[in-house]
Amino acid sequence: MSTTARKKVLLMGKSGSGKTSMRSVIFSNYSARDTKRLGATIDVEQSAVRFLGSLVLNLWDCGGQNNFVDNYLTAQKDTIFANVAVLIYVFDITSTEWEEDLRYFEDILTALRENSADAGVWILVNKMDLLDKEDPKRTRYEERRADVIRVDERIAQKSLGDGEDRGRLRCFPTSIWDESLYKAWSSVIHTLIPNIGLITSHLTYLRDVCLAVEAVVFEAETFLVIAKSGSPLDSPPSEFDKQENRGGASVLDPQRFEKISEIIKGFRKTCQRTGEQFLGFESKFDECTVVLEPMTRNTFILIVSVDPRVETALMQYNIVNAQIHLS
Ligand code: GTP
Repeated sequence: MSTTARKKVLLMGKSGSGKTSMRSVIFSNYSARDTKRLGATIDVEQSAVRFLGSLVLNLWDCGGQNNFVDNYLTAQKDTIFANVAVLIYVFDITSTEWEEDLRYFEDILTALRENSADAGVWILVNKMDLLDKEDPKRTRYEERRADVIRVDERIAQKSLGDGEDRGRLRCFPTSIWDESLYKAWSSVIHTLIPNIGLITSHLTYLRDVCLAVEAVVFEAETFLVIAKSGSPLDSPPSEFDKQENRGGASVLDPQRFEKISEIIKGFRKTCQRTGEQFLGFESKFDECTVVLEPMTRNTFILIVSVDPRVETALMQYNIVNAQIHLS
């Protein structure tokens, strides 16, 4: 990637749904507990986040109080909804005003489709931690998801002819208290990166050279997953390729990447507190060898092997060679 690509990301949803909390946990190293101190966002807070050196996310955190939202939909409509790459819309699963929440969402999605028809839409149904005990099967989440999809389809039917350009809508249950937040945001980032197919094929090659089962690239600051070897990031285990299945598809935890993101960020924070520098990680367990190393200035790479012959030094040697190839 040579030139800088700028992508506008709108973060919207009713006041208190958790938008600024998410942004702060992912991009500013807040812990979930720290977010209790956050005040309501006034109007729109813009920030720029650089990824991989040449991808800049322009994040527009739009305060969700009703008077601000009314203004986005009238006076500020052309400014807010033009040239959007992604809308991340956050719902609060505990909200008792679902009908009203849905009406606001419909108005916002309509404005988005009028001004940026091909923008991708991510629906994050947040604060799932508050409901998981009383609704372990997540029935309420499924109902909310179905309602949101109906709204999207209704808008699509109204704008016949533009259907083909319509960006995809994806829905994720999230909580700032667990790794689900990383899964949702990694999914957003993954689709914004140019040449993702090429990166995936390079990673698959590196994985095979290392006799490994997986090679994963994380962004160095946020630790969001950027790409992995083999099958696409959100594939079900049944679609894993041969090498991934060597690890035993049935034992690979589908949440493994997000868990690693969360653990490493926690570990790095501890290192900062104790004045140590976090440089990476390597370990050889009974059945697996793991190396986490800086790959480029903006990324870390994790390689996992279940072949007992593989030593960490082999992986590190191959990583250094891959770095030379990239520089
Ligand atoms: P506005 O700026 O007014 O639009 O609100 P916001 O959507 O930015 O909400 P904010 O991030 O300020 O969060 C409001 C409160 O919800 C804070 O006290 C957070 O700690 C809390 N919160 C955010 N996400 C979660 C979550 O996943 N679970 C729980 N239990 N609380 C959350």
